[in-house]
Amino acid sequence: MKLFRLLVVLSIIPLACSTGRIATAIVPGELWKDNRGIHINAHGGGMLFRKGVYYWYGEHKDETSNEANVGINCYSSRDLVNWKFEGVVLPVVTDNDSSDITKGCIMERPKVVYNEKTQKYVLWFHLELKGQGYKAARVAMAVSDSPTGTFEYVRSYRPNAGIYPLNFTQEQKADTLTLSDIPKSERQQLRSAVENGLYVRRDLAGGQMSRDMTIFVDDNKKAYHIFASEENQTLQIAELSDDYQSHNGRYMRILVGKHNEAPTILKRNGKYFLITSDCTGWAPNAARMAVADSLFGTWTELGNPCVGENANLTFQSQGTYIQKVEGKKDLYIFMADRWTPKKPIDGRYIWLPILFENGIPVLKWYNKWDIKGAKY
Ligand code: DGJ
Repeated sequence: MKLFRLLVVLSIIPLACSTGRIATAIVPGELWKDNRGIHINAHGGGMLFRKGVYYWYGEHKDETSNEANVGINCYSSRDLVNWKFEGVVLPVVTDNDSSDITKGCIMERPKVVYNEKTQKYVLWFHLELKGQGYKAARVAMAVSDSPTGTFEYVRSYRPNAGIYPLNFTQEQKADTLTLSDIPKSERQQLRSAVENGLYVRRDLAGGQMSRDMTIFVDDNKKAYHIFASEENQTLQIAELSDDYQSHNGRYMRILVGKHNEAPTILKRNGKYFLITSDCTGWAPNAARMAVADSLFGTWTELGNPCVGENANLTFQSQGTYIQKVEGKKDLYIFMADRWTPKKPIDGRYIWLPILFENGIPVLKWYNKWDIKGAKY
């Protein structure tokens, strides 16, 4: 167990805390204080590495509500352990109730990518319109010249309106079955209708539903939006335009009817691994994993990547992003949230190193671990 030489290192390294000492260890589930001594408020987050700095973007959550009352926060760090608050990089709108991002909307799972051609930072997130629960199911986008914002809000929509997925058959296009044709008691019939594209057709004109999401930039610099669609029954993976600011119409349904949320992805040795969750609201469930040789290729399910105690609950968390550690050959961090819906601001961060056993990702619990000491 190469990784665990690092535990020895840990036992002699002082932990960061309110004493003001520099932190060196990741301590999943504890309070993580920023440069001001305040617990980091960046839930459902994503990360961007740029010019030696990691930028962590996440949902600001308040004491009692999961609605967006502030906006999207950003923190920066050179070592992934000591974080400086960079501010609210996309604030909610407080003086215009008709804005998509008016205070009280829902902004979730922000992800930022840098576009080399335009030299712009592009922020994508899941948006729900104020007062509509999770009905709108939109993706939203904002742009900035700097990683620390302020981002300019551009638009929100449901992706790929009027366009069928690339793997939709002629028969599926021609099918005329609708939801109202299926009696409520016929669960099996509904299931196969959903697999057969019931919701894709229903939502064709207005665009596909888009909830939990991530953005992935491949080695060839093409960017992809991976999102829970079709009433959370099916993931879709959609190519973005060259400037990363819109969808270009090429998309696929993957893990059809498999009910996945919280998509996270990594690429290693030419293989893509998706780690996702089941859909159980804020309550944790067992993670799932799938592998493919190409993003639009066939995805093969591999089961739960977690092992050990609490593996069936993803160690009481739900994934949000996978970040590769720069300068380490093989160190990827699985970033997850331990949600606390009654007091959302208190949500904790579960970051774990991804181990590879026979080339397959494995997640194990560590009370604390050290990025510098990790032998990768
Ligand atoms: C689980 C999702 O992963 C979260 O981002 C959030 O949408 C909650 N469901 C809401 O219940």
